[in-house]
Amino acid sequence: MASQKKQCILVTGGAGFIGTHTVLQLLREYYRVYIIDNLHNSVPEAVERVKVLAGPALSANLHFHVGDLRNKDDLEKVFTQARFDAVIHFAGLKAVGESVEKPFFYYDNNIVGTLNLFELMTKYDCKKMVFSSSATVYGQPKKIPCVEDFQLQAMNPYGRTKLFLEEIARDIQKGDPKWRIVLLRYFNPVGAHESGQIGEDPKGIPNNLMPYIQQVAVGRLPELNVFGNDYPTKDGTAIRDYIHVMDLADGHVAALQKLFNTENIGCIAYNLGTGHGASVLDMVAGFEKASGKKIPIKFCPRRQGDATAVYASTEKAQKELGWKARYGIDEMCRDQWNWASKNPWGYHSQHP
Ligand code: UD1
Repeated sequence: MASQKKQCILVTGGAGFIGTHTVLQLLREYYRVYIIDNLHNSVPEAVERVKVLAGPALSANLHFHVGDLRNKDDLEKVFTQARFDAVIHFAGLKAVGESVEKPFFYYDNNIVGTLNLFELMTKYDCKKMVFSSSATVYGQPKKIPCVEDFQLQAMNPYGRTKLFLEEIARDIQKGDPKWRIVLLRYFNPVGAHESGQIGEDPKGIPNNLMPYIQQVAVGRLPELNVFGNDYPTKDGTAIRDYIHVMDLADGHVAALQKLFNTENIGCIAYNLGTGHGASVLDMVAGFEKASGKKIPIKFCPRRQGDATAVYASTEKAQKELGWKARYGIDEMCRDQWNWASKNPWGYHSQHP
């Protein structure tokens, strides 16, 4: 019931893929939620659908502001609307190739945006943050599974923004121990809410594997280019740790609870993955099974900068956050196909 209201959370980038799924789970846990999103890679319709899924009582606890973190006035407007107990900071750009071509754009959005956010949080005395980091900070890991205390490394401007922001967060927390910061390192988020009403809707040709497969399955793209079939793996294709976006969303709720309950948490990193590696061909087979569609593939050379195998050690999150991924590849593919078949053009009713 809405009367059991909990803390008030600012969610930056809350209209995006991981943002919408997390906002829904926060509402279901009775949090009050304010979203700030500049709609660079998202649409207001996604927030509308979250409201419908949450129902009228809980969606009364959701407020949506269009704004850009690079603009301090936009941020200030939101901070004057409510007193936030914590911030979940998703807002940021995440396309590796684009970051190589437009590094300034990436540093401006991701770094300047986050510095502004830290400034406003300090001004309004809100010193609890959950930050969206990425497995990209492990670079080409020398060992797997990736453990949180591995040495960090970035391979491209996007990866450097995540790495630098982790360092900045650690410095800010050191400078003022009142801060409590959780850095969540996501592995490969896929799938969609089981309703098929919200999901990933990238603009343009997808860079990532699962949105690409999805668009082949619905006929928007002719075939999947498989980047590399000469890796030293069971089938020659690269191994990643795919994680259902609802598991990821629940990981954020667990991290938030941990922040509220742990006075001296400092600035701490957790992996959010399943701990299991799957190859590109495993994911193609999973999607074919879920959709009943054949996914034509073409083997291509390796994509520059790709690692052979990356997957998470999940022990720390399990032990300290009490969180563990529940879903496997079958559920990820089932839910992503449900979203794709109901929304072949994403949030648009036809070719945008
Ligand atoms: C990528 C980024 C990572 C970022 C994450 C964000 C790179 C090198 N890494 O992770 O920094 O945090 O996205 O979501 O870009 N693949 C194909 N064909 C395709 C697309 C992908 O074969 O059309 C393969 C890739 O070579 C890789 C696997 O599928 O082996 C997963 O790729 P992707 O979904 O792009 O994720 P990552 O590369 O792991």
